[in-house]
Amino acid sequence: MRILGIESSCDETAAAVVDELGHVYSDVVRSQVAAHAPYAGVVPEIACRDHLRAVGPVVERALADAGLGLADVDGIAVTRRPGLVGAVLVGVQFAKGLAWALDKPLVGVDHLLGHLLAVFLRYPDEGVPRAAPAFPFVGLLVSGGHTALYRCDGPAPPDVHELGGTRDDAAGEAYDKLAKLLGLGYPGGPVVDRLAHAGDAARAPVSLPAPMAHGLEFSFSGLKSAVARHVARAGKPADEAAAADLCAAVQGALVATLVKKTLAAAAREGVPRVVLAGGVAANRGLRACMREACEARGLELHVPPVRSCTDNAAMIAYAGALRLARGERDGYDIGPERRTELERLTKKGRGPRAQSPTTIIR
Ligand SMILES: Nc1ncnc2c1ncn2[C@@H]1O[C@H](COP(=O)(O)OP(=O)(O)OP(=O)(O)O)[C@@H](O)[C@H]1O
Ligand SMILES: [Mg+2]
Repeated sequence: MRILGIESSCDETAAAVVDELGHVYSDVVRSQVAAHAPYAGVVPEIACRDHLRAVGPVVERALADAGLGLADVDGIAVTRRPGLVGAVLVGVQFAKGLAWALDKPLVGVDHLLGHLLAVFLRYPDEGVPRAAPAFPFVGLLVSGGHTALYRCDGPAPPDVHELGGTRDDAAGEAYDKLAKLLGLGYPGGPVVDRLAHAGDAARAPVSLPAPMAHGLEFSFSGLKSAVARHVARAGKPADEAAAADLCAAVQGALVATLVKKTLAAAAREGVPRVVLAGGVAANRGLRACMREACEARGLELHVPPVRSCTDNAAMIAYAGALRLARGERDGYDIGPERRTELERLTKKGRGPRAQSPTTIIR
């Protein structure tokens, strides 16, 4: 079964052809980073318009790279949630049009499930084959909009149970906001990762709070606030070396909490294997520390290649292929949804809230 996958939930327009065993025949990602960089974050209106322009050519390229015509694919999978509604809408409408015109089955896919299953993708140029993880595993999903630990008992949404998520910023969001505060450009993750590698956390001029020491939930906004207060007081780092030390301290704190909570989740669930997923799983520090910690505890660690950590359509095509293989189909009435369909435990901003002094009279 060769499935065409389409992804447009944020700032990448992507298309790929993948089969139900995870073999990747083509994988095309067109990034909008340059369009959003001047704003140091994704501008939804720009994202939607750019997806509209790109989706046709990107799909054509994915088919050409796979050596297939439209008539050769066995089904169409598309990200339908979560994401920027207008951006998701472009991919969903395009997929519906194709499925209708070609009379092919259509399946909507949850983008977060796609990230969690990306570890099963097999690229022809990978060299040494990676062993696929068995179920159950503990999945740490760390991306630009989401951060949570899941117990995954299987590949369908009801098999995926959140063990704890972030109450405020996602890990990728923390990287992007840190980079914005330090004037390092967008997206922040790769540049902070590079600088952190060269820096020394012990020389950082600010002491950082441990982000939410207990439990399986996360909170990263305190780190951002500590850096913001430091920059307001002392100004931006004077040179790249000073920025590198600050990045090393922030990355150290972020990675330590992600690793510690992942190990705690595996121990609590009695699950001997861990999977990394999402854009922040591309982080060199996280990959290295998690490997060391898992080895020390005798846990299996499964890490996807960097290209399948960040947004791509191969993971969407694969998750869709599994749905089709289970005999599932969607109708032409599916539309974009802002929220994930995966079970959610942690509510953002949970805790007592101050009474609002605002009254709206209608
Ligand atoms: N090497 C890296 N180190 C840390 N963060 C990184 C690295 N590379 C990318 N990122 C971060 O990953 C995020 C993008 O990941 P991804 O594409 O999975 O997120 P998204 O699709 O925007 O969000 P979501 O999947 O939650 O909807 C950005 O925040 C980016 O800064
Ligand atoms: Mg993503």
